Amino acid sequence: MTLSISLTVNGVRQDLAIDDPRVTLLDLLRDRLTLTGTKKGCDRGQCGACTVLVDGRRVNSCLSLALSLDGAEVLTIEGLAKGDALDPVQQAFIAHDGFQCGFCTPGQIMSAVGLLNEGETGDDPERIREGMSGNLCRCGAYAGIAEAVSTARRLRDETARPLRDEDETRRIA
Ligand code: FES
Ligand code: FES
Repeated sequence: MTLSISLTVNGVRQDLAIDDPRVTLLDLLRDRLTLTGTKKGCDRGQCGACTVLVDGRRVNSCLSLALSLDGAEVLTIEGLAKGDALDPVQQAFIAHDGFQCGFCTPGQIMSAVGLLNEGETGDDPERIREGMSGNLCRCGAYAGIAEAVSTARRLRDETARPLRDEDETRRIA
């Protein structure tokens, strides 16, 4: 039996026929929508390479059944930048060499975005490391990843900070 679902993926509505109820979000993204930035590592919820955001929260897409997500908003690594403007997390990963081979990097970045959305870590490096512990990196780039997440958190705060009087003066001078 074929069922239909509707997802918004990276801002674009997708109406999809699903003929296998076991199809995962990961396979749907990679095989049907050719969004191969989301990586398949373990395919069993242990490495975090497949992390995407669903309704703003990070999930392992290899463990998420597509049929259960009807109506959801999905954000993948392909939808993170705004045109040529990289997300602060992407900028920080580059600045801190938060990767080597790059295989885990899309999942790391999406997990970091989700972690910052959760807003629980503050600037505590231990809590950042703990919050990112579901994302494995075989290259061992953990130091750069933790620094990148910390920097991205600060960048986000600065971007979100309301203009102070002197900022306003500078901006309009
Ligand atoms: S591929 Fe999903 S957690 Fe490893
Ligand atoms: S950068 Fe190679 S697995 Fe993380």
